[in-house]
Amino acid sequence: MELKNKNVVITGSSRGIGWALAHALAKNGAQLHLVQRSWDKAKILELEKLSGSEIKQWTCDLSQLVQVKELCANLKSQPIDILINNAGILTGELLENQTDEEIENVFQMNLTVSALLTKAVLPKMLKQKSGLIVNNTSVSAYMRFPCATTYAAAKSGLLAMTECLDTELTGTGVSTLALVTPGIKTDMFDAIKTSYGKYFEAPDDYISADEYADQVIEAIKKNEKYLLPSGQTRLGLWIAQYAPSLFKKVVVGRFVRK
Ligand SMILES: NC(=O)c1ccc[n+]([C@@H]2O[C@H](COP(=O)([O-])OP(=O)(O)OC[C@H]3O[C@@H](n4cnc5c(N)ncnc54)[C@H](OP(=O)(O)O)[C@@H]3O)[C@@H](O)[C@H]2O)c1
Repeated sequence: MELKNKNVVITGSSRGIGWALAHALAKNGAQLHLVQRSWDKAKILELEKLSGSEIKQWTCDLSQLVQVKELCANLKSQPIDILINNAGILTGELLENQTDEEIENVFQMNLTVSALLTKAVLPKMLKQKSGLIVNNTSVSAYMRFPCATTYAAAKSGLLAMTECLDTELTGTGVSTLALVTPGIKTDMFDAIKTSYGKYFEAPDDYISADEYADQVIEAIKKNEKYLLPSGQTRLGLWIAQYAPSLFKKVVVGRFVRK
């Protein structure tokens, strides 16, 4: 799909991967609709200069269902071409140490919100016979790491939702792209070390958010269904999928339950 003048919604665009995506899409001339809970005026001006168009700002705390439903109602009337469900949060602890609130929130932020926003934009996309839903999942959708119980469950759910939806959308002109995201150097990546690190030597491979955003743009332009990691992470993903016992053995060797 070409990106010039396309209306693109991005959640979690204040920093990290979402910000890099907003930047890369602005450079490609997309009309951005950003979903954030707070705003940095200088960053918006920077994007407007790059894209040559006004940035639509949708203020929403995605952990608050009332606000999410209000956002959905507003987006229903917008001519959206691409929805990028990017916002997400991490829980990195043994399951018994996660609070009930953290558990509810990790599913809401990484899964429920994406389903609700997708449901809101789909009718118009189906009517215009074109559109793309991009879901930012994770290698955790395949790789079973300790301390990632709820995060991996939510991301596996998001991947499953993307794949079921893609089947439902066959022949409609609307499609999906699943980002099976590897380590990207962001605040979330740094948080993995502090949260999982007490128990588990997590893999330390990463690429920059800008490099990843360029890969996402290429995948959108080529109408890909998946963006998979490369190099060592790709090998790890393959082992996790096709030799799960071997994968578990390696992971258990790096895990200490304190
Ligand atoms: N980085 C990695 O290694 C990695 C690997 C696999 C998958 N991913 C996935 O990629 C996506 C982006 O991750 P990232 O590394 O860029 O994370 P990040 O640096 O932590 O950024 C998270 C983004 O989500 C927003 N967000 C968090 N809570 C929110 C809320 N309640 N309401 C609205 N927005 C909220 C943040 O906004 P605020 O500035 O307002 O907090 C921020 O823009 C996530 O879905 C993550 O699971 C990342």
